[in-house]
Amino acid sequence: MSRAAVCPGSFDPVTRGHIDVFTRAAAVFEHVVVAVMDNPAKTYTFSHDERMTFVRDATATFDNVTVASFSGLLVTFCQEQGITTVIKGLRAGADFAYEQQMAQMNAAVGGVETVFLPATPIHSFVSSTFVKQIAHGGGDVGMFVTDDVKRALEQLG
Ligand code: PNS
Repeated sequence: MSRAAVCPGSFDPVTRGHIDVFTRAAAVFEHVVVAVMDNPAKTYTFSHDERMTFVRDATATFDNVTVASFSGLLVTFCQEQGITTVIKGLRAGADFAYEQQMAQMNAAVGGVETVFLPATPIHSFVSSTFVKQIAHGGGDVGMFVTDDVKRALEQLG
């Protein structure tokens, strides 16, 4: 039985859609660990430190949410934390096939269960990738990200 859940992702950068999932997860679980992936083989727009800082700032007001870094397998991180539940947001049907496969693999390999939260409709079309494209093109991303992330995106040009 787990009263805690891990909410993993790249968060490159964190969006209001992610924050909505953290908020809802924090209302369901006693403790939520937001786990920021650090994969040296992957090229991120923001450094690991920047992504961690954005997530920390976005969750600073929650007393039952902590932020941690992980690399390697998610199930290994969950075992280290003593947590057997992962929580993921699902935006559209397109997310489901991939997320279902990952959930089944994580259950088979590490005994970790995944709980899916359907996106709140106003966030269902928001992704870090699209937010970066809009910001790069000069569009206003203020409704999708925090002020800090917006400023950082604007500085990237
Ligand atoms: O925000 P993202 O990039 O969609 O997050 C994906 C993430 C980090 C949750 C996923 O890639 C992951 O869990 N990676 C850890 C490596 C791992 O456990 N791979 C096996 C998946 S079955």
